[in-house]
Amino acid sequence: MESIFQGRSLLAEKDFTKEELMYFIDFSAHLKDMKKKGIPHRYLEGKNIALLFEKASTRTRSAFTVAAIDLGAHPEYLGKSDIQIGKKESVEDTAKVLGGMFDGIEFRGFKQESAELLAEHSGVPVWNGLTDQWHPTQMIADYLTLKENFGKLEGLTLAYTGDGRNNVANSLLITGAILGVNVHIVSPESLFPDDALINLAREYASKSGSTILITEDVKNGVKGADALYADVWVSMGEEDKFQERVALLKPYQINMDMIRATGKEETILLHCLPAFHDTKTEYGKMVERDFGEIEMEVTDEAFRSKHARQFDQAENRMHSIKAIMAATLGNLFIPRV
Ligand code: CP
Ligand code: NVA
Repeated sequence: MESIFQGRSLLAEKDFTKEELMYFIDFSAHLKDMKKKGIPHRYLEGKNIALLFEKASTRTRSAFTVAAIDLGAHPEYLGKSDIQIGKKESVEDTAKVLGGMFDGIEFRGFKQESAELLAEHSGVPVWNGLTDQWHPTQMIADYLTLKENFGKLEGLTLAYTGDGRNNVANSLLITGAILGVNVHIVSPESLFPDDALINLAREYASKSGSTILITEDVKNGVKGADALYADVWVSMGEEDKFQERVALLKPYQINMDMIRATGKEETILLHCLPAFHDTKTEYGKMVERDFGEIEMEVTDEAFRSKHARQFDQAENRMHSIKAIMAATLGNLFIPRV
C-alpha cells in the first residue's frame, strides 16, 4: 500500500484537505527534529529534481536545494535565462522533456497555468514554488511556525496587512480557512482579494469553524491577532507600482503601535521575506530617494522586536519543502491521514 500523497503535485492549497495539509505541517516538524538530531532521512535516494525558476529566489531555491540533498536526491537549478522555456520552447514541450529525465519538478514563475501545464504534461509531481496566484509551499512553513509558537492552530487569529490580493495573501486566506485559523485581510478596498476567493474562503471557514474578515479598518482588523503578517507592497513582476503602493499602503505598515493594537502581549510577527525594513537594498534606497520613506511594509523596530519570527519561518521553508517532496515522491507508508 502506498502513500495517499504519492505522485501528487502541490499546485494550490485548495487541492488538499485539512488533514492532508496538517500532515505536511506535522511531518515538517518531524523532519526538522530528525535534522537537528542528525538522524538521516534519505527518502529520495537516487532521485533527480528540476528547480525551474522564472523569478528570483533566495529561500525557495535554497530550501529545495538543501532539502533535496538531505533526502538523497540531486537538485538541478534551471533558470529562465539558461533554458529554452518560453523563448524557443512551450511549457508543454518543456514538461515532456523534463518529465522524461527528472523525478520531480519545482516551478516558480508568473502564470499558475504554467505550473498546471507542467503537472499535466510531465507525469511527475510538480511543486509550486510561487506563481502570481499562490505560494503553497510557503504556507506549510508559515502555519508550522504558528503551531510551533502556540502549540495549536485552530482558533488562532492571523491578520495579514498590506496588498490583500497577492499570492501570499491568497494562500494565507485559503489555507487558514481550511485549517480553522481566523484570517483577517487588512488592506485598502482596491487591494481586497477577488470575490470568488473570498467566497471560497468563507465556504471553507464555515466547515472549519474559522472566521474570515476582509477590512480596510486597521484597528479592527488587527485587534486580537495572535500573528501579524506582512509581505512586500510590490510583488515580483509589478515593479512599476512602487509610487501607487507606497501612497496607498503606508497606513498598513506593521510598526510597534500596530503590534500593541493587537492587544496581545504574545503576538508574533511573520513575514515571508524578503522585507523592506530599511534602506539597505536597491529598492529601499530608490523609495527613500523618490518618496521619502525609509521603511515600507514593516518598520525596522518591529522587524527586530521580540515579536519577530520571520527567520524561524525562513528556516521552516526547508523543513516543510522536504516534507512535501518526501511525502509526494518518497514511496512512504502513509495509507491515510
Ligand atoms: N519567501 C520566499 O519565497 O522567498 P524567496 O523569494 O527568496 O524564495
Ligand atoms: N508577494 C511576493 C512574495 C515573495 C516571496 C512576490 O510575489 O514577490
